[in-house]
This record gives sequence, C-alpha cells and structure tokens, in this order.
Amino acid sequence: MTDLTKQDSTPRLLPFLKWPGGKRWLAPLLRAIMVRELTGTYYEPFVGAGAVFLQLRPERSVLSDTNSDLIHFFNVVRTRPEEVVRAVWQCSNTAECYARVRRRVPRSDVGRAARFLFLNRTCWGGIYRTNKVGEFNVPFGDSGRRLCSLQHVIDVSAVYSNAALAVQDFESGFRCAKSGDAIYADPPYTGKGENNGFVRYNEKLFSWSDQVRLARECRSAKQRGVFVAVSGLRHDELLSLYSGWWVLKLSRHSTVSRELASRRQITEVAIFSRKPKELPMQLRQKLKRIKT
Ligand SMILES: C[S@@+](CC[C@H](N)C(=O)[O-])C[C@H]1O[C@@H](n2cnc3c(N)ncnc32)[C@H](O)[C@@H]1O
Repeated sequence: MTDLTKQDSTPRLLPFLKWPGGKRWLAPLLRAIMVRELTGTYYEPFVGAGAVFLQLRPERSVLSDTNSDLIHFFNVVRTRPEEVVRAVWQCSNTAECYARVRRRVPRSDVGRAARFLFLNRTCWGGIYRTNKVGEFNVPFGDSGRRLCSLQHVIDVSAVYSNAALAVQDFESGFRCAKSGDAIYADPPYTGKGENNGFVRYNEKLFSWSDQVRLARECRSAKQRGVFVAVSGLRHDELLSLYSGWWVLKLSRHSTVSRELASRRQITEVAIFSRKPKELPMQLRQKLKRIKT
C-alpha cells in the first residue's frame, strides 16, 4: 500500500488524544489535497481528535462534534494548557488512580478537562463511551503510556486558538459552508444493515439513516460550490449515496484492537465532491469516478 505519511512535507503535528477512527494516517494526503481546494473556511463536523485539522492548520475553521466533553476539553485546553497538564500530572497511569479519577465528578473547567485527558490517555483503546446516565464506563487500558507532554499539548492547543468550536450534530455543522470553503466529514463507520465499524462514540449510535442524511447534506454543500471530502468503509451502498463523485480506495490494518490477531485488513474510502486538483502520482490511477 502507498505510504500516505509521505504525501506531504509539512511538519507533522499529531493529536495528543487517542481517538478510535482517528485519521493520523490519512492526514498528510488530505492536507495535500485540501490546500489546493480551500480558499475560505474549513469545516470538520466530526472532528474527534482533529488529526486532519492539525495537519492542515487552516486560518479559518469551524470544528464540531456531538461529544460535549471533547469540545469542552478543547475550549479549556486552548486557553489554559499548562493548568490542564499540571492537573493530569497529579495522577498516574495505574488501575487504582484510573478507578479514582473515573468515579470523580470535577466541578471546575480545568478539572473536567484534565479528567477527560487523563481518561483518554489511560483507558482501553482511547475509547469514549458512557452508560445510559452519561457516566464514562471504559475499562483501564494498562498501556503503560506516558500521560502527556506539556510542550505537545501547548503546540496543539495553539492551533485551536482561532477555531470556532461547537457541540452539534453534523447537520448544523456545515450549513453555512459556501463556495471556496471545504468540508472534511469523518463519521463513525456505519454500513447498511450491519455494524461493521466502531460506531458507539456516545449514547446514540450513528445509523444508516444518519449516513443517508449526511450524504444529502454533502450533496447540497457541493451544489453551493463547497469542496467536500468524506471518509468511510468501502461498501457499494455507501458509494451509491455519492454517485458522480470521485473515490480513492485505501487498504490498511484496523488499529482499534491491540491484539494482532483481531486487527483486520480493511478497505476504507476517501470520497471527493470533485476531482482533486492535487493528487500524488501513485494515487492518480486509483482515483475513480463513482458510477451514476
Ligand atoms: C471517526 S471519529 C472522527 C475522528 C477524527 N477524524 C480524528 O482524526 O480524530 C467520528 C466522530 O464523530 C462524532 N459523532 C458521532 N455522531 C455524530 C453526529 N451525529 N454529528 C456530529 N458528530 C458525531 C463522534 O463523537 C466522533 O468524535
């Protein structure tokens, strides 16, 4: 498979959050494409840990997600990174400390942000999952991972300083996008009639009807002259929602599981509303028009 990390020479700035479905691996390629398409505002309505945003570092951006703890975290850490990191450093990556922090309900903004970062760095697989009453219920990850580096958190937080951040469903996330703007939509991977990816990011599942709703909004943005890129698993049903668009098929190993045996080879797709102006030579032949 083509090494996508070599598609762009911009110094890499990686997220410090671990996020299922995170697009560190795709970010260099998407940056190389997006910089040639974007003249206005960048929209990322399923921002998660923001791997693509951090590689692109656009001047104007609107970042949103339905995960309110995540958005609250970025709102706090971008103005008070040192306080958040120092609070995290009070904890240790042990099962006892994890259980204590998980039970805790912090009252301050910094306390809530620090708890979020600590749990993300120490829980199993960086998964964010809550029970029916909204309590975080992911088990301890036992990763031995270092908690966080102050300099890394400061560098990443600085990129978020001018971004507009919102807790919202994707449908409100890019309604204002217009010609010259670009959208990157990376929804939970849901296929028609099957649960074939990690889709349970919060209490509400991302369903097939959400995929259909997303495709409708993306087509409407395209009609307004917006450049749109969408990620997903390679499935005919998904591609049929974007007929006439352009698709790149990209194979790699799934990384949700730490067990090698259960890391499946998966084929993902990047779907574009128009033929990208910039595409690395080795990928040009792989770009196909989706049949109408
Ligand atoms: C695949 S992850 C995005 C990962 C991100 N690209 C990254 O690199 O970290 C999908 C994200 O969509 C969010 N999400 C789920 N349902 C949503 C909805 N209806 N509207 C907006 N965001 C949603 C989840 O909270 C999760 O953060």
